[in-house]
Amino acid sequence: EEVLWNMDMIEKSGFQHFMLKEIHEQPQALQNLMRGRVDGGKAPIKLGGLSHCEKDLLAVKRIVVIACGTSWHAGLVGEYMLEELARIPVEVEYASEFRYRNPIIEKDTLVMAISQSGETADTLAAMREAKNKGAKVLAICNVVGSSIAREADAGIYLHIGPEIGVASTKAFTAQVAAFYLFALHILLLRHKTDPKVPEMITAINSIPGKIQKILDREEEIREMADAYKDKNHALYLGRGFNYPVALEGALKLKEISYIHAQGYPAAEMKHGPIALIDENMPVIVIATKDATYGKILNNIEEVKSRKGRVIAIATEGDEQIQGKADHVVYIPDAPAVLTPLLSVIPLQLLAYHMAVMRGCNVDKPRNLAKSVTVE
Ligand code: G6P
Repeated sequence: EEVLWNMDMIEKSGFQHFMLKEIHEQPQALQNLMRGRVDGGKAPIKLGGLSHCEKDLLAVKRIVVIACGTSWHAGLVGEYMLEELARIPVEVEYASEFRYRNPIIEKDTLVMAISQSGETADTLAAMREAKNKGAKVLAICNVVGSSIAREADAGIYLHIGPEIGVASTKAFTAQVAAFYLFALHILLLRHKTDPKVPEMITAINSIPGKIQKILDREEEIREMADAYKDKNHALYLGRGFNYPVALEGALKLKEISYIHAQGYPAAEMKHGPIALIDENMPVIVIATKDATYGKILNNIEEVKSRKGRVIAIATEGDEQIQGKADHVVYIPDAPAVLTPLLSVIPLQLLAYHMAVMRGCNVDKPRNLAKSVTVE
């Protein structure tokens, strides 16, 4: 069959939409983010945009992350990572709330602004508010030379190329990976040689290949999307590192398919959302093998006993879960702190395929903008 290429298809490298192209770019994007920074799997982590402020970083006692949308979700994963790896207390704030609440900034508070575009009005204003109060601001941005990148005291660029699809995908995984490198960097600044670090670097280096393995199962996820595309609601549950992924999965679905979706920490389900569960409520549960696996299985049983339909995102080799969930999508095993980089991939693909099947304009969803530069 003859394939006719036009400019539009060339721009999207043959993919039907920018969003799908960007989902598939994630293994390469993460390699680009790590290049020159964790070379040869050896410490130290080289983050050029931070080299002039290592003294300040050593003194940091508290971190406040400010962001909007998907970047805020990446910030929540960052909070868990920084607390677990670097043992620094972290708070994550919506930029729009932070800027109007007379925030408390002490001498050793570091503010981190997370923004793909570097132009989000609320994040920029929140960052200026923090600077006025004397905070040092570190930005994680993708767009080089953007307002937030220019005004920050220090920064980490993602180096993942432009993100065109309105629903953020590769920027999310890259922001999470940037937080991981930052956490390792702080750990090393404080404890020159931490014996765990080489292993942690090996673990992040294996993530691009593992993401590729999930992308290779796209057809399975497409078939699943077909089974659920006519639903009007969906609930996403996760715990620990995967709680923010539940929020992000729900956001992807509502943004592009216009299906009402809500993300929740799994154990909070019994304080409200459980009232909504019946045979018409698909419940997507991130149930990877980690410290809370047993608890998540209980949550799945609670959903099943109310006739909910369960899609589980589970760790390869977990056969037990097949008897409990209606559908299982397997992802490769990884240390718990890195699972968000894997568990989010099937959720991106699920949202994408459901939206396409519903005839939605995936790259330009109604009422949404790629970058919200007004308040
Ligand atoms: C908009 C976009 C989202 C994005 C958010 C924050 O809502 O549609 O995809 O997550 O802004 O954007 P930023 O560029 O600051 O990460």
